[in-house]
Amino acid sequence: MSLASACNDIIPFDVFMILSNRDYYQNAVIGKVGDFITAPEVSDVFNMILGKAILSHALKKKSKLLIIELGGGTGKMMRDILRLFQAYTDNNITTTVSAVFMLEQSASMRENQEKNIDKDILSSCPIEWFSDLDTLVQKAQLVAEETNSTVVVISNEFFDTLPMKQFHLSDKISELHARCLEENNIELIYREPSECSTHLIEEYVRKNAKLLNQIIAENKYAIVELSPVREMYLNKLLDIIIPYNGMFLTIDYGHFGYKHTDSIKFIKNHKLLNNVRKLGETDISSAVDFYALAKVAIRRNCIATFCSQSDFLKKHGIFDIAKDFFHKFLDSDIHAKYFEQMWLDTAKLTSKLDMGGAFKVLNITNSPVQKTGFKRCI
Ligand SMILES: C[S@@+](CC[C@H](N)C(=O)[O-])C[C@H]1O[C@@H](n2cnc3c(N)ncnc32)[C@H](O)[C@@H]1O
Repeated sequence: MSLASACNDIIPFDVFMILSNRDYYQNAVIGKVGDFITAPEVSDVFNMILGKAILSHALKKKSKLLIIELGGGTGKMMRDILRLFQAYTDNNITTTVSAVFMLEQSASMRENQEKNIDKDILSSCPIEWFSDLDTLVQKAQLVAEETNSTVVVISNEFFDTLPMKQFHLSDKISELHARCLEENNIELIYREPSECSTHLIEEYVRKNAKLLNQIIAENKYAIVELSPVREMYLNKLLDIIIPYNGMFLTIDYGHFGYKHTDSIKFIKNHKLLNNVRKLGETDISSAVDFYALAKVAIRRNCIATFCSQSDFLKKHGIFDIAKDFFHKFLDSDIHAKYFEQMWLDTAKLTSKLDMGGAFKVLNITNSPVQKTGFKRCI
């Protein structure tokens, strides 16, 4: 659906989120000079740690890797992960990595990714871009089969940009919609849920009636946010993770156990806006319900582990890596300001009051011995 055909229409918020984010990411700039900064842009150490986690999965499985990244932004995370593999294999990356697939809907982001990944790696390791998940999954099945590879799917701040439906519950149920006005202007309003939303929210209310009644009694209303699309993405990805002994590792802002609050964020120039006034004006995201994703994995006999970004990075040795950098450069002529910045960045990524607490990590692997379930990382 284009905006032109949606103009003067009232569309559910999840549909609006698809249209608006698609528009926004055509020209988005991520990083200090852009609208918001993400962990891969804060520090290369974050990317190296993800690389280490992927490498240790490959070593355990003793097989080559097909690495898939969802929504790679500027491409720096994949650049650093592939550099780590290039160093580990003495410049013979294809002995460990059979292929790299990038899922990216924005042409300009894709261009950035291609520019940022090192030329020697681009020319030796097969890297392919996809704008559609179904095509990526089909091709991944073929490549994993042909090369006998295990499949690793990674993402940072991808699931929070996928569409989400928001409901307002009081004596009646209403759903958040966007009214599309002239010249791409937008007004957000609650109105009667669409038919498919009615089915979804009624089922949720049936299963959580006691808790919702309690919240409504205390606050006069309750907010429910549901994202069938996020669950559908994970389900499709599990089709290539489960048969090939794979791993799914995603980092996002969100919660495990739903808080029933409005989590929608509109971000522009590193500031949270109260509202969106124009389609494609800001990045629109909402908190990821990791419990809902973990349930998808457990239903398919997988093991899901969950922890804060802070605990994940510490467990994977972020402070040791930072100390190594520190010692390596201590005798060089790099300015003290560089070290100061490095420690500030490490603190930003790990502090529970900053990104370390707001962001969470969900890791899913299949269980050959059918030992299903959910665990904390630490
Ligand atoms: C918030 S940015 C995160 C970028 C990067 N992972 C990082 O952490 O810096 C979201 C990324 O996902 C991409 N994206 C959003 N929705 C998508 C979709 N449905 N399919 C493919 N890519 C999508 C955007 O273009 C962008 O590259």
